[in-house]
Amino acid sequence: MKFFIDTANLKEIEEAASYGILDGVTTNPSLMAKEGIKGRDAIRNHYKHICEIVGKGDVSAEVLATDYNGMVAEGRELAALNGNIVVKIPCTPDGIRAIHTLTEENIRTNCTLVFSLTQALLAAKAGATYVSPFVGRLDDISEDGIALIEDIVDCFARYCYATEVLAASIRHPQHVYRCIKAGADVVT
Ligand code: E4P
Repeated sequence: MKFFIDTANLKEIEEAASYGILDGVTTNPSLMAKEGIKGRDAIRNHYKHICEIVGKGDVSAEVLATDYNGMVAEGRELAALNGNIVVKIPCTPDGIRAIHTLTEENIRTNCTLVFSLTQALLAAKAGATYVSPFVGRLDDISEDGIALIEDIVDCFARYCYATEVLAASIRHPQHVYRCIKAGADVVT
C-alpha cells in the first residue's frame, strides 16, 4: 500500500517526506496554479524540485495538451526531466492512444480522470502504469467512488493487469480507510 500526496506545495511535500512514509506525489495543473507556478520552464523546474524532495518515489506530472501529438511530445519532455516522473494523461480517446505510444517507449504513465470501470480497463490495455479513479468527484454526483475502486481492483486481478490502482480525489480519512480495505495500490 503506497501513500502519495496530492499537492504541488513544496513545504507540504517536505513535511510528508519527513515522516518517512511518503511514496510519491501527484499534481495537476490546478495544483500548480494554486502555487503560482506558471509557464513551461517554471513548471519543469518545479517538477525537478519535487523529484529531489521525494527521492525514489514516483511523481505524476500532468500534460497540458489535450491532443494526441501534443500529449506525446509533452510526455516525452516531462519524462526526460527525471527518472521518477510518471506522465499523467487524461482518459480520453487521444489520451489512450498517447498512453499506448509512451508505453511503447518505456515511458510510465498515470491515466487520470477515470470515472468508470471500462475507462480503467482501456487504460490498462493501453499499458498505463497507474489508473486514477476520482473517488470524491464520483461521490459529489451521488455515485459510489469506493465501489469503483473495488470493481477496478477485482477486474485487474481477474484479468492479470499489472496496472496499479491509484485512488484519487480523496476527501477524508474514511476514503483512505475504505480504499485500503478495497485493495487500492495507492491512495493520494
Ligand atoms: C489526482 O491525481 C488528482 O490530482 C486529484 O486527486 C484531483 O482531485 P480533486 O480535484 O477532486 O481534488
